[in-house]
Amino acid sequence: MPNATAVINLDIEGPTISRHLYGHFAEHLGRCVYGGFWVGEDSPIPNEGGIRLDVVQALRALNIPNLRWPGGCFADEYHWKDGIGPHDQRPGMVNTHWGDVEENNHFGTHEFMALCELLGAEPYISGNVGSGTVQEMSEWVEYLTREGDSPMVRLRKANGRDEPWRVRFWGIGNETWGCGGNMRAEYSADLARQYATYCRDHGDNKLYRIASGASDDDYRWTETLMRQISCFGCEATPKNFFQGLSVHYYTMAGPWEAKGSATDFDTEDYYRTMVAARKIDTILAGHSTVMDIYDRGRTVGLVLDEWGTWWDVEPGTNPGFLFQQNSLRDALVAATHFDIFHQHAARLYMANIAQTVNVLQAMLLTDGDALVLTPTYHVFEMNKGHQDATSLAVHLRGDGIRRTVGDTELQTLSASASVKDGTLLISLSNLDAEEPAEVTLDLRGRSVGEPTARILTADRLQDHNTPGAPDAVSPRPFDDLKTTDRGLALTLPPHSFVTVRAPIR
Ligand code: AHR
Repeated sequence: MPNATAVINLDIEGPTISRHLYGHFAEHLGRCVYGGFWVGEDSPIPNEGGIRLDVVQALRALNIPNLRWPGGCFADEYHWKDGIGPHDQRPGMVNTHWGDVEENNHFGTHEFMALCELLGAEPYISGNVGSGTVQEMSEWVEYLTREGDSPMVRLRKANGRDEPWRVRFWGIGNETWGCGGNMRAEYSADLARQYATYCRDHGDNKLYRIASGASDDDYRWTETLMRQISCFGCEATPKNFFQGLSVHYYTMAGPWEAKGSATDFDTEDYYRTMVAARKIDTILAGHSTVMDIYDRGRTVGLVLDEWGTWWDVEPGTNPGFLFQQNSLRDALVAATHFDIFHQHAARLYMANIAQTVNVLQAMLLTDGDALVLTPTYHVFEMNKGHQDATSLAVHLRGDGIRRTVGDTELQTLSASASVKDGTLLISLSNLDAEEPAEVTLDLRGRSVGEPTARILTADRLQDHNTPGAPDAVSPRPFDDLKTTDRGLALTLPPHSFVTVRAPIR
C-alpha cells in the first residue's frame, strides 16, 4: 500500500488564499441561466423575482464569493441595454455561440444584480469588446456604479433602481484570441488599454479590471499583454491599466474532438483526466513566471476565470448546451485543482469554475423542479474553510504515490492546508483508482486539538447523483483518524477526498 508523509509546519505561514479562488460563472448558455438560475416570476417553481430559490439556498451554503456573467463567448455579443426595462419591451437576439437559440433578454443587469444580492456574492461583469464599443462599456459602468445625476443614472432610476450598485470585478473582453474577436495578442493588448481607460471609477467604486488573457499554456499571449501594458519608469504601471489578467484552462480526457463521456469511462481515461487536471500546476507556474518579469511586486492578479472538466454532452441533449453529468471523477478533478490553486496563492487571485448550474462542471443540475447537488458541489462545500485562510505549505514524500501514465508521471496524492481563526483545515485526495494510501500528517511547530474529518468517495469513479439517488456521492463523517506522536495518521481509500479540521493551540 502506498505510504506517505505530509509535513506541515503550522508556524510558518504562507500567503492568504483569496476567497475569490472559489468563484463561479453563469453564462447565457443552455440551461445555466434560463431554467437554472432563472425561471421567471410566473413559474410554479418557488422563486424571488424569477430567481430559483432552491438554487440560491444550495449556493449560499458554499459562500460563493463572486459570480461571473453574462459569458463567456456570449458576453461578446451581448448588448446590455437590450436587457433593461420592462421584460415585454426588451428586444430579443440570437445566441449564435450556444445552440443558435433565441435569447429574450429577460435576465439582464437588474436580475443579475438581484441574484448576486441573494447569493451574497460579488458581481463579476464580463464586458463586450468583440462586438461592442468603448462607449457601450463605459456607459454600463456608469449605469451600475455612478450616483447622483447623469444620463445613465437617470436611465437606471427610470428602471426602478435609485442607488448605484457596488461592482468591483470587470472583465474587458473574453477569449479575444478566439470567440471574442479572433484577435492577435498585440491588438488585444491595445484594446485592453483603450477600454480600461474608459471604464471609470465612479465615486468610491473602484474597479478591478481584468484583461482577456491566454488559453492554456499560451505564455506568449501573457508576455505580450504584460509587455504592452507595462511602462517602466512612468506612471502607467500595469496596475493603472488593469488589475487582473485572465487565463482559461479546461480538463478533458482526450483531444477537443473526442473529449470523452462524463460517466462512461475506464480507468485509463480516468488517469489521463487526472494528468490533464494536474497540468494546471505547470500552466499557473508558467503564466506567473512571465508576469513576474513585468510585475515583480505582484500588483496584477492572475485570474483563471474559466476552469473545469469538459466532456461530450449527454446523449440526446442539444450539443450547443454543454450539459454533462458530474461524477466522483469530476470531484477529484476539483479537489486537486484547489490544492494547486492554494499553492499558487501568491499570484492567483481568482478562479471561476465553468459553470455553476447545468453547464460543464456544474455544482447543481436541475430537471424541471428537481435539483441535484453534484459531487463537485461537495468539494466546494468541504473546502470552503480555505477561503481567505492563511496557506500552509504541505511537503509530501513517500512510496508509491506516483504512477506512470503514458509518458508522464502522475502524483496520486494531492494535498493542501490552511489555517483560519485558529482552525487548521487539511484537504487530501487519493487519486489512485485502486489502491488505498496510508498517510501520516506530520504536524510541526504547534499542537492541535481534537480533529474531525469528512470523506467524499463512492464505490465507483463513475458514480454520480440523480434526482432518484441524490446522495450517491455525498460527504460522510470519517473516523479512521489516529492521533500519533507525530500528529495524525489515516488511510485514504482509493479515489477519495478527505478534509481534516482541528483547532490549533
Ligand atoms: O464555458 C464555455 C465556453 O468556454 C465559454 O463561453 C468560453 O469563454 C470558453 O471557450
